[in-house]
Amino acid sequence: MRLKHVKKAEEKINHSTYLIKEPQQYKGNFKSLFQNNNEIHIEIGTGKGLFLLQMAKTYPNINFIGIEKYDSVIVRAIEKIEENPLDNLRFIRMDATNIEEVFDHEINTIYLNFSDPWPKDRHEKRRLTSSVFLKKYDTIFKDKKHIIMKTDNRHLFEYSTISFVKNDYKIDDISLDLHKEQTENIQTEYEIKFSNLGYPIYKIEVSK
Ligand SMILES: C[S@@+](CC[C@H](N)C(=O)[O-])C[C@H]1O[C@@H](n2cnc3c(N)ncnc32)[C@H](O)[C@@H]1O
Repeated sequence: MRLKHVKKAEEKINHSTYLIKEPQQYKGNFKSLFQNNNEIHIEIGTGKGLFLLQMAKTYPNINFIGIEKYDSVIVRAIEKIEENPLDNLRFIRMDATNIEEVFDHEINTIYLNFSDPWPKDRHEKRRLTSSVFLKKYDTIFKDKKHIIMKTDNRHLFEYSTISFVKNDYKIDDISLDLHKEQTENIQTEYEIKFSNLGYPIYKIEVSK
């Protein structure tokens, strides 16, 4: 992306009330941001926000926060919410590596949708379902820990399933071809793309 476009994206998101600019200041008290005691669900690697925009519309009594590391991507989510305002959705631009600096025992559910697979062994720690990340998530969950993951990547799916179990999660639900099942499902951008190409979508829901 050209520098001019990156600068434009940066300006646009920095002017939006939907971007939480200094998220650390709400640590342990994100309910004050939403001004209610509703559950808080986050999506890590939210991309252009399609999933959370739809979730927030469908579930007005849940608060949602989308976390995305790139300005050039999150700007699309910000543009969409500016056009169709929602009180129960906000975004944070950050690398989730620092997630435990932002939340403290206040999150009810984490969504991991089509996370980057990082296929090389030496990059394992970067996978959002590695033990490194799962240990960080332990500090941000309120009481019950609840993760819902979808992916088209078989290797990441198998790796994540093992990682969840190794970290004491129990499997509540699992699907090897989500779109063949008649379940309620809000799709993500990548999910639409990959299922249109004929790939099966894997889903796993775990808790502890
Ligand atoms: C493959 S895309 C999937 C986007 C969206 N969840 C979907 O399903 O359409 C992965 C996204 O996660 C973001 N991402 C990857 N690692 C991240 C991290 N450590 N912290 C925040 N965002 C991350 C990437 O920038 C990218 O936008």
